[in-house]
Amino acid sequence: MKLALVGMPGGGKSTVGKQLARQIGVPFVDSDHEIEARIGGSIKQFFERHGEDAFRDLETEVIAELVTRPGDCVLATGGGAVLRDRNRDLLHSNATVLYLRSTPEDLFRRLKHDTTRPLLQVKDPLARLRELHHQRDPLYRRCAHYVLESARPSVHALVNMALMQLELAGLLDPTRVAATVGAEPV
Ligand code: S3P
Repeated sequence: MKLALVGMPGGGKSTVGKQLARQIGVPFVDSDHEIEARIGGSIKQFFERHGEDAFRDLETEVIAELVTRPGDCVLATGGGAVLRDRNRDLLHSNATVLYLRSTPEDLFRRLKHDTTRPLLQVKDPLARLRELHHQRDPLYRRCAHYVLESARPSVHALVNMALMQLELAGLLDPTRVAATVGAEPV
């Protein structure tokens, strides 16, 4: 099984993804890290030098490669991965997609000191997060099989919610999952 996490920057995709992967006992992959490994530098620098379109092209290539790679994994995607129809199709048809949904206000609280995300290096990052959320929320929903409200619960609670959802859907064998979150998988 492939699981993919989509959602706004700062919504916990990487943190939740890592724990989910550990619980299920499959590798964790982060499309932004794969992109940075490929370009040999940071996404922020790449945006500055080549612009957003070039970044999006690379993002599509990397997502296509990761979701069609044989074997199970949990994949965290960049917040803008859902902007392209092709990425949404690739993710939706090759993985079970979970949308980690947060409010712009909660995201702002987590990201207000962040300097790594190029789209948020503006005078009013909260207004920007509201705009992006408004634009992207319908796209995340369209791409996802399940929506998890991630504003309030802790990471552990979110991971448990995701595991429960997957078990209920018959997508996950409960005997493969460590008994409690935080425990190492057997
Ligand atoms: C982006 C989010 C980032 C990264 C890039 C663009 C976006 O990923 O892919 O800076 O468009 O929202 P995170 O969601 O992991 O921050």
